Parts: sequence; structure tokens; C-alpha cells
Amino acid sequence: MKQTICKTFPAADAYILPVTCPAARTVSIGKELDYAIDLALEQCFKANLGEIKAITVPVAGNLIQIVLLGLGELPIIPRKLYLNMARALRVCKEGGAKEVAVALDNLPALCEDAALFETACRLPALVNYANIGRKTNPNIKAYEEVYFVTEHAGLQPYMQAGMDCAQGTVLARMLCNQPASVQTPHSLGEDAAKLGAKCGFTTEVLDQAEIEALGMESFLAVARGAKNTPPVLIVMRYLQGGDAPIIGYVGKGIVYDSGGYSLKSNANMKNMFDDMGGAAAVIGAMSAIANQKLPVNVVGVIAACENKLSYDSYAPGDIIGSMAGKSIEVTNTDAEGRLTLADAITYAIRKERCDILVDIATLTGAAKAAVGKYSSAVITNDDVLYAALRQAAYCSSEKVWRLDADEEMRVCLNSSVADIKNASGATTDGGGCILAGLFLQEFTEKKPWLHIDMAGVNFRTEPPAFSASGATGYGAALLFYLARELQKYLKDAGRCDKK
Ligand code: BES
Ligand code: MN
Ligand code: ZN
Repeated sequence: MKQTICKTFPAADAYILPVTCPAARTVSIGKELDYAIDLALEQCFKANLGEIKAITVPVAGNLIQIVLLGLGELPIIPRKLYLNMARALRVCKEGGAKEVAVALDNLPALCEDAALFETACRLPALVNYANIGRKTNPNIKAYEEVYFVTEHAGLQPYMQAGMDCAQGTVLARMLCNQPASVQTPHSLGEDAAKLGAKCGFTTEVLDQAEIEALGMESFLAVARGAKNTPPVLIVMRYLQGGDAPIIGYVGKGIVYDSGGYSLKSNANMKNMFDDMGGAAAVIGAMSAIANQKLPVNVVGVIAACENKLSYDSYAPGDIIGSMAGKSIEVTNTDAEGRLTLADAITYAIRKERCDILVDIATLTGAAKAAVGKYSSAVITNDDVLYAALRQAAYCSSEKVWRLDADEEMRVCLNSSVADIKNASGATTDGGGCILAGLFLQEFTEKKPWLHIDMAGVNFRTEPPAFSASGATGYGAALLFYLARELQKYLKDAGRCDKK
């Protein structure tokens, strides 16, 4: 798909006109089209938020689609545009359009506000993506050309940022939608390395022996049940920020989560190839950050393995070690993500010298129960870092919802035989999302830390307009914008261990 900015309206088979209240047309697309638009504006279209009016106009023997996109009252925030312009783009795409022109100047804010413009520029790629799996006869409708029509100058870099960001999201979806029959920890590492070579970050993939040498006992306990698909530790380095602190992005990379001996039901298991959504978000973000050549230091760490059931799998009641030296009583083998993340966080701190930790994971069903399917649940020990994440959520339209890490709940993880339990074991305790956060906090060594539980937003069988069914790619854009945002916060901070 080609995406261009142009000053005048090109010939296209569809046009999208964003409109705010009171509804008006201020640009001219061409005589016949203007006439049809004005008629609709007069007769029925109020430009309420989310109102969409599709009209078809015959012009010189062709049928041209026009979509009036209502965006309600000013001011417009990116999320409103994200949800609704995606719908407009989808309407034209489903209508068979191969070329669409978006009349941005009908709503000047879309070009005057960089966050809005970048959002618009992300959407064509997000809407074009189709999750065809292994269908032999997929019926793919896709745009070939998208035009953003505006007289504003100097927007090219912003469009490129939006496109690079969206490419990161699409990569995350593609990685996450691969079933475990094709995606192994090893293949995930290879994919990361290929993307690194293409986009500009280095990748190191450590094998089982190297992971053993590092003492990552907690990670290895989870991995042990899958003999034919051994674990790997994927480390991606993008160090272009000079003296600035190093940001560690730690993604949960369970390529399949059966639950292990704490076996899931079929209904809860069938989509668990998506349990590496956090890893996909990290890889997608690293690609976008590198493509944009952001002046930041980011290290991505993924402890990739499968949580499978075999004679040799770890079992409830086991007491295991960890790279940090803490002992862990395993009460539930389905609480595996935190075991792999704990060691990955320790690795990021001790071996990669990360100053700031951000982990992202499809960690608990409880996250969805707590905050729903439109936001991830976030736990943090640092208000400034959270402010940066809020700003990134605003720009990316990927919402976050902070939960307090109530220390009082730590007793639910107290063990009589180890330093901590991996899960409370009592369903009456509740607060599963927070308990997972409290567990991870034990491994953060007092570094500024954000924990993003994306279990509720990672996968949609009935997708929103900006996504296909399956993985949403949530997190790639959020982490891309977080890195961009942290540049400002960290500009003069210098590395923590030098201070
Ligand atoms: N990968 C799951 C969490 C999950 C559930 C992601 C549903 C997406 C949709 C995770 O490993 C898990 O199984 N968590 C358990 C934790 C419990 C055993 C403490 C859960 O949420 O039930
Ligand atoms: Mn699990
Ligand atoms: Zn899991």
C-alpha cells in the first residue's frame, strides 16, 4: 500500500470527509461530489461523534464512494479519531475501494495537531491488515493507495512516524497470530533477528545451555515440559541514546500456554498461542523505534518458551529457584508468565544494566475482569514514569488503567516453604491482577518500573474497526510512544548508576 500527502484531490474511488458539529463542508472535491455531500449535509447528517453516512455518486461512468465521518464536538482526541476514522476506512475498503482520499482540511485540527495527524496516518495500515491464517482462498480486500489531502506543509515526517508505528503494530499482530504449530521459541528468536537486521537493532538469542548458565531456574521450570521446543532468551539492543538511561522492555513470550499440570479447559486454552502478545509488542516497538531512529537506549528481553504438559513438566508443589536467588513455591503451573518474567527482569537489570523496567504481558484473566477489554491494567512504583505512559497512551490510543499495588495484599503470596508463592492458591483472595504485579515487583530491585497486563486487550474474536479478528497488536504503538515520550523525561538524567 502506498500512502501519500497531496495538496489537491486526486482521482480515487473513495473519499472520506471528516466533519465536526456544526456539520459543514469547507473543501471542494469536485462539482458532482460537492453537490452530493451538500445534499447529505442539508438533509440528514449532523456530524455527531461516530455518525457515518456513506453515499455513492456516479461520476463519468464510475461509482464513487463518499463517506461522511462525524467526529462530534471539538476538541477531538486521538482515541476518538482512531476508533471512528478506522470505521470510515473500513466501510470504503469493504465497498471495494482500492484508492481512498481523506479530506483532512475539512477539519483543520487533524493537520494542526501532530498527535491527531499521526493517528490518521497509522490507520490505513491497521485497517488493511487481514488475518488470513492458512486459508487457501482468502478473499482479501485492501487499499493500494491512500491519499491524505491537505494544504498544510511539512507533514511528511509525521506521516512517516505514523506509518512506522503502524508497521510495528502490524508486525506484532502477525507474530501473535501464528499458532504454536508454526511458532516456536526458536522461530520467534529468528523472526526478531531478521527484523533487527532490517530495522536497525541487534539481536542475540541465547539457547538453553546459556540460560542454564545464567541460573534462570524459574524460567527453565516453566520451559521444562516442552522437550522438542526448548526455550530461548531473546535480547534485542538498540542503544542510540548516548548517556541516557537504558529502558528495558520485557515481553512475556509464552508461545503456548496449556496451563501445564494446572491444565486449562479447552475453551480457555484454544487461543493460548496468543500468550506471547507482550513479546510481539516489544518486537513491534523495537522495529518502530529503530525505523524512526529515535535517540534512545532500549533493550528488549523475551524469555520465550512453551507451557506444556508432559511427564517432565513442573508441577504444583514444586519449590524452584530464580536468577535473583529467591525461592518460589509453585502453587499453580498456569501462573507461568510471572515465573518467566521474573527471571527476564533480573536479567535485564543485572546483565543489560537497564535503569527503567517496563514489562508487558498477557498475564491474568483478572486484568480483564478488573478493567475490561478496552484498557490494559497497569501497576507501577513510579508516578513520573506513569505520567509518561499516560501521554504515550494518549498518542497511541492504546488505553491504560492504573491499579494500586496494595502492599497489604502481599500476604496472599506468603509461603511457609519459600520466599514467595507464584499464586495465592485461594480463589477467595481475588485481586489476581494486582497479585501478579506484586509478585513481579519483588524482582525489580527498586528500579522505576511499569507493569502492563494486556490480557484483556490482546485478542479479539469480534474485532474493533482498527483491527482484524485475532491479535490486536496492542502495545507496540504504546511502547513506541513511551520511548519517544521518555526522551523528554530522561534527556539530562544520565545513567542512574553514574549518579
Ligand atoms: N496467559 C494466561 C492469562 C490469560 C488469560 C491471557 C486469558 C489471556 C486471556 C496466564 O498465564 C494465566 O493462565 N493466568 C492465570 C493466573 C492464575 C492461575 C493465578 C489466570 O488468569 O487464570
Ligand atoms: Mn497460564
Ligand atoms: Zn500465560
